[in-house]
Amino acid sequence: MDKIIVLDFGGQYNQLIARRIRELHVYSEVLPFNTDLEKLKDKNVKGIILTGGPNSVYLPSSPKIDKMIFDINKPLLGICYGAQLLAYLSSGKVKQGAVGEYGSAIITTSKSNLLSTMLDKEEVFMSHRDCIYSLPEDFIITSSTKDCPIASYENIKKNIYGTQFHPEVKHTKHGNKIFKNFLFNICHCKKEWKYDTFIENKIEEIKEKVQNKKVLLGLSGGVDSSVTAALLSKAIGKNLYCVFIDHGLMRKDEGKEIEETFKKYDLNFISIDASSLFYDKLKGIIDPEMKRKIIESTFLEVFEKEAKKLGEIDYFAQGTIYPDRIESGLGISAKIKSHHNVGGLPSKINFQGIIEPLDMLFKDEVRKVGMKLNLPSSLINRQPFPGPGLGIRIIGEITKEKVKIVQEADYIFRKELKKNNYKADQYFAALSSMKSVGVMGDSRTYEYALILRAVQTDDFMTAKPTLLPPTFLEHISDLLINNVKGINRVFYDYTSKPPATIEFE
Ligand code: XMP
Repeated sequence: MDKIIVLDFGGQYNQLIARRIRELHVYSEVLPFNTDLEKLKDKNVKGIILTGGPNSVYLPSSPKIDKMIFDINKPLLGICYGAQLLAYLSSGKVKQGAVGEYGSAIITTSKSNLLSTMLDKEEVFMSHRDCIYSLPEDFIITSSTKDCPIASYENIKKNIYGTQFHPEVKHTKHGNKIFKNFLFNICHCKKEWKYDTFIENKIEEIKEKVQNKKVLLGLSGGVDSSVTAALLSKAIGKNLYCVFIDHGLMRKDEGKEIEETFKKYDLNFISIDASSLFYDKLKGIIDPEMKRKIIESTFLEVFEKEAKKLGEIDYFAQGTIYPDRIESGLGISAKIKSHHNVGGLPSKINFQGIIEPLDMLFKDEVRKVGMKLNLPSSLINRQPFPGPGLGIRIIGEITKEKVKIVQEADYIFRKELKKNNYKADQYFAALSSMKSVGVMGDSRTYEYALILRAVQTDDFMTAKPTLLPPTFLEHISDLLINNVKGINRVFYDYTSKPPATIEFE
């Protein structure tokens, strides 16, 4: 299959580039910036994109690429840092700009292959301080802004293109035109990335790998592991064992609901209540990363024990998806959080290998695969729920009592949002570690502050707060305090991502 390689120089929007390309039905993969050039010479690689990143190309310590990249005869597109790097390696000049450009900017365009069909003036998203100030003679400048003399450039003969702005970010209104031009007019890619083909190929791949052996799947009931279950069940049928571990950090009644849903399927479904073990291990732990690591290793411990009980389980499967891997530090992008799912198997574990059939898919792609596999839409369209569950929505130490508070509050908040028809892509309650003084029924209280969060997002990489009306917020605050024991204040989180993340830990 034709593919575009996205070389990761550490920018936060790197995986968005790959998503935009796949949306145009061309397969794309993110690889570290220092990937062996031999790999890039593969005949299926039709073009290479160099991403943005936080460094300055003129500093000796910044990530670079071998100049030989110009000799492998593949179209190159640099974005932001990538554009500066390609210009710098071609003897252009890059230095710190007089002012930075962060946010929306207007470019004035001129005749260009890459920007063809774009308007004379276009709104784009900029995020840079360094600027390209000069280019070799055989390059042409194809757009500029008032503060950035070279906002894009190209060398058609050498097939080198660069944009200082980010076409992958939605704020660049016609960014997709740039990707279309690059993919189809410059790289001549065929539209070969299709879900039916993905499903067929994966099923064959799994059959070949597993043969007649047995697979244990960690099923959380979320969309990722449910789609993994459907795919594996198609490939290996009764050799699949789906184990649902209740870590005591699920939403209210969720354990029961998952059990009811999956008992209906023709799977070996096993449900394990391991909440006491998880609570014990998490006792006294307040560090978010430590919590994540403990939850992950406890999951593996319980799986391993269950596998021993079942006997002769050869493979362990899980619903890891592409963003889990990238956000856990696949390339050199800053590691923000260790996503539970990633990390693989401890060496002592007794499985022959790991199966992660969705590990190259983005969330929206997983949903599409789920639809193709006829999973019910109630499952496919569930809002995401993180593997570590309420453990990362309780700031500070996790206790049974705090879990109860969050479960009750979260249940009420979700029900009220639905009843009032407010739409958000992810919405939940979290518990802060702050206790404060209040007054209820003429008595002093000293209780926790609850936080509500609801966000609008289409990729979960960036998010905006859902603007809930003050009357609703007042209503929900009263309802929560009157019905949930242990809280006396309710905050609504109005922070975007970035600078915050969607979850609290
Ligand atoms: P953040 O908090 O990083 O979350 O903005 C982005 C999206 O990822 C979900 N999330 C996780 N999902 N395991 C998961 O399966 C995890 O460890 C994890 N941490 C965050 C989060 O709910 C949001 O949808």
